[in-house]
Amino acid sequence: MARSSTFPKWVLPIMLLLGCLATKISAEDGPVPNGDFEMTPSGGFSNEAIVDGPTGIPSWKSNGTVELVESGQKQGGMILIVPQGRHAVRLGNDAEISQQVKVEKGSIYSVTFSAARTCAQLESLNVSVPPASQTIDLQTLYNVQGWDPYAWAFSAEGDDAMLVFRNPGMEDDPTCGPIIDDVAIKKLFTPDRPKDNAVINGDFEEGPWMFANISLGVLLPTNLDEETSSLPGWIVESNRAVRYIDSYHFTVPQGKRAIELLSGKEGIISQMVETSPNKPYTLTFSLGHANDKCKQPLAVMAFAGDQAQNVHYTPNSNSTFQSANVNFTARAERTRIAFYSVYYNTRTDDMSSLCGPVVDDVRVWFSGSWRNGFGGLGRMTLGLAFLVLVWVLL
Ligand SMILES: *[C@@H]1O[C@H](CO)[C@@H](O)[C@H](O)[C@H]1NC(C)=O
Ligand SMILES: *[C@@H]1O[C@H](CO)[C@@H](O)[C@H](O)[C@H]1NC(C)=O
Ligand SMILES: *[C@@H]1O[C@H](CO)[C@@H](O)[C@H](O)[C@H]1NC(C)=O
Ligand SMILES: *[C@@H]1O[C@H](CO)[C@@H](O)[C@H](O)[C@H]1NC(C)=O
Ligand SMILES: *[C@@H]1O[C@H](CO)[C@@H](O)[C@H](O)[C@H]1NC(C)=O
Repeated sequence: MARSSTFPKWVLPIMLLLGCLATKISAEDGPVPNGDFEMTPSGGFSNEAIVDGPTGIPSWKSNGTVELVESGQKQGGMILIVPQGRHAVRLGNDAEISQQVKVEKGSIYSVTFSAARTCAQLESLNVSVPPASQTIDLQTLYNVQGWDPYAWAFSAEGDDAMLVFRNPGMEDDPTCGPIIDDVAIKKLFTPDRPKDNAVINGDFEEGPWMFANISLGVLLPTNLDEETSSLPGWIVESNRAVRYIDSYHFTVPQGKRAIELLSGKEGIISQMVETSPNKPYTLTFSLGHANDKCKQPLAVMAFAGDQAQNVHYTPNSNSTFQSANVNFTARAERTRIAFYSVYYNTRTDDMSSLCGPVVDDVRVWFSGSWRNGFGGLGRMTLGLAFLVLVWVLL
């Protein structure tokens, strides 16, 4: 701090301003108020507390049969699932909870929430920020624990967004219905396309909010809209979800995040990358295991334009991943690259949780370019610009 006295007078206010802006933006990322439903409602917690008033649950509005459930609570001999902490909320037929969240108009946000189904097989959840909405199918159990975190993205059309979770179901038993917990929101940014790589967010480092203390990753359900994706740059073009994983709970090839492909060819991620027609390109990616006791063999089908290649992961005691490549000639100005798991893998310990191969560090480059030199040059330019900036500031 002693050095700051040598700064011109105007530097400090600007730095403070930048600091404030930074805190304002980061404060929006993370759990929403009472997103874990642990705050004591006005009437206190009670077993089988059905919320009557629209404001029974702090920070949320509700409509219909909304019930705060407690861990250990039983219903018809079945213990209800509470994903985290002591409490969660259950939505009866046609019931909903909602909360107003502050957003920045024009930005893309991703909502992360944990959901479980109770008695009905065909339970689903409609998550919306009107007019955008998506119905998330809770029929498939991806995990033997019976619940999973999911992510859904929306584009903010104003400065306030009404985040709504609704159970669209009409079950005979009105107390059946999805359980929700751990609601968080994160403003997404779309990483710039690297100079030497046509793939946006090929390292998967930008994605939905992940709770540090939840070890199940985050499921990314079907999303065909590349502009509004929880995984910027990518779409999930299959009926089933893929799993976004972190390095704190899984093994990832590079950085802190990667994608684990699930359910065979029912879990497909893809991206349209910019290419020049009739030019040779190479797609490279890392293929590995997540260290989640997934039953081998692991393999992916990788697509690049009109090429498709089946790549098997070869277990190697020295490394948790290997590098793979596909050579192709672009036919158009946009070329589709895609991945799915060749096998339908489950964990060896419970034989039912879905798992699969991990894909990371996806690159597409013009095979004729001197990519390494270029990357080095880019980094050098950046370093030089930084030095100039420091020199100007001092
Ligand atoms: C509650 O839901 C019902 C049925 O969907 C709807 O008609 C009513 O307007 C809602 N009430 C509020 C306060 O949103
Ligand atoms: C998990 O972390 C959140 C904050 O990120 C905290 O509110 C919650 O209590 C934690 N849950 C457990 C079970 O530790
Ligand atoms: C989900 O709910 C929203 C708002 O309540 C509604 O407009 C939309 O049609 C529903 N979406 C689906 C797929 O049911
Ligand atoms: C692991 O590394 C050691 C030493 O570099 C090498 O001798 C060995 O062949 C490697 N094993 C595998 C399976 O690649
Ligand atoms: C792609 O081309 C490179 C050299 O141009 C070669 O080393 C590599 O083996 C090729 N990959 C495949 C999968 O054929």
